[in-house]
Amino acid sequence: MGEEKSIIAVENLGKRVETAEGSLDILTSVSFSIKHRESLAILGSSGSGKSTLLGLLAGLDLPSQGRIELAGVSLTELDEDGRALLRAKHVGFVFQSFQLLTNLTALENVMLPLELLGADAKNPARAILERVELGHRLRHYPHQLSGGEQQRVALARAFVTAPRILFADEPTGNLDSRTGAHIIDLLFQLNREHHTTLVLVTHDAVLAERCGRSIRLESGRVV
Ligand SMILES: Nc1ncnc2c1ncn2[C@@H]1O[C@H](COP(=O)(O)OP(=O)(O)OP(=O)(O)O)[C@@H](O)[C@H]1O
Ligand SMILES: [Mg+2]
Repeated sequence: MGEEKSIIAVENLGKRVETAEGSLDILTSVSFSIKHRESLAILGSSGSGKSTLLGLLAGLDLPSQGRIELAGVSLTELDEDGRALLRAKHVGFVFQSFQLLTNLTALENVMLPLELLGADAKNPARAILERVELGHRLRHYPHQLSGGEQQRVALARAFVTAPRILFADEPTGNLDSRTGAHIIDLLFQLNREHHTTLVLVTHDAVLAERCGRSIRLESGRVV
């Protein structure tokens, strides 16, 4: 894929849900595109639709309207299995709440995405855990790790498949500011090393400035 081509293209995206109080438009007419290796911040206050948008971009949920193209594939035309495969191959995630599997060690958590792809897992998983300075914590379970350490495991897990796109939803939301700053530095470093396209959800304008570009959501619309 050439440098100019969009790796993510979103066209007229809408998400409407039915609730006890009637139907609710969470996202309305959202359009934008992201080029390969670009970094984009999605800003907006709580409830503006940021996580919903990220879930749609990642193929975790389907829109009510509109199109999403991811890595040249029309995500919105794939079935569930097709979306899962596209995610496994091309997408990494980091969440606010780490979301490590509690019954797996740090090493096993990082091995998992490679195992799902049928790839050799142990050596690459160990190597990236060493890269995030957790080589001495391979056999620890999540509850035996600090919040910052858990998020470093999550970063290792996200990058271990060398995804083309990384989605991060408030990755420092559960960390103190110093630990959070360290995690963000690491995220941007890994992003550079792996030439990954980064989509970062945040309500922190300073953090957004570290991204090449930003868009702001208000009540589900890009403003
Ligand atoms: N399945 C659902 N059913 C009903 N309402 C929903 C559903 N999912 C999200 N919403 C509503 O849609 C709005 C957007 O939610 P979303 O989680 O995307 O916001 P956000 O911008 O990520 O907020 P925050 O910064 O607090 O994480 C919220 O008002 C939320 O209550
Ligand atoms: Mg959110």
